[in-house]
Amino acid sequence: MIEFRGVHKSFGKQKVLDDVTLEIPQGRTSVIIGPSGTGKSVFIKLLVGLLKPDQGEIFIHGQDITKLRERDLYEVRKKFGMLFQDGALFDSMTVGENIAFPLQRHTKKKDKEIKEIVAMKLAQVGLPGVEYKYPGELSGGMRKRVGIARALALEPEIVLFDEPNSGLDPVMSDAIDKLILRMQKELGLTFIVISHDLDGTFQIADRIAMLYKSKLIAVGEAAEIRNSDNPILKQFFSRSSEGPIQVV
Ligand SMILES: Nc1ncnc2c1ncn2[C@@H]1O[C@H](COP(=O)(O)OP(=O)(O)OP(=O)(O)O)[C@@H](O)[C@H]1O
Ligand SMILES: [Mg+2]
Repeated sequence: MIEFRGVHKSFGKQKVLDDVTLEIPQGRTSVIIGPSGTGKSVFIKLLVGLLKPDQGEIFIHGQDITKLRERDLYEVRKKFGMLFQDGALFDSMTVGENIAFPLQRHTKKKDKEIKEIVAMKLAQVGLPGVEYKYPGELSGGMRKRVGIARALALEPEIVLFDEPNSGLDPVMSDAIDKLILRMQKELGLTFIVISHDLDGTFQIADRIAMLYKSKLIAVGEAAEIRNSDNPILKQFFSRSSEGPIQVV
């Protein structure tokens, strides 16, 4: 359903993505891993049309989004729900207002219906009844869950998670992974997760793609990638600072 074909992206002289070709299947969880600075976030920005590739095509349901004008991209973006790395909640709004925001902006739903959706989404992420709290009153894990509730508010087809575990303790991290896993099973949506967290990756991934030095060096079913003999993957999975991946 999503396909990158020969995608190149540079910033000035710095090549960030070099000839990336990749298919992301519908209705499954694909996790994109790779060391810091290898272009994972750039990959996501290209996918939602916030950046344009220098070369190559990006298809969503057969439509090349790199050719679209801003107005048409807006329609494409409605298919996506996004959990930002820091949660990106509005601190001056209550939790309920945060989740209602995309619904008020992008739909003609009445207030009463929006309230019901907000309550339902909060229940789905295990936080019923926190509508009237402010983000500042919540723990990091709760804020992530509110972010997930907001990402799901518009019933997206594709949900992007940029580092859902960042800044969380291992127990909360595991709870978020379990929530992502459960949501995917319940909703059957296409999930694309960017992650540094290996335990989490193996827990939630159906498929894994690894970016390294601006290239896509591996992509496949999770078990296949986990057992790969590729020295770069082996080093990454063993969390070693010794091997082909250089620490700079
Ligand atoms: N808008 C931009 N202008 C210039 N350089 C950029 C821009 N966006 C990203 N870069 C550069 O592209 C490279 C890849 O960035 P990106 O944010 O995709 O890395 P990442 O893989 O997400 O890293 P991390 O795991 O640390 O989040 C970095 O060197 C970054 O400085
Ligand atoms: Mg990033």
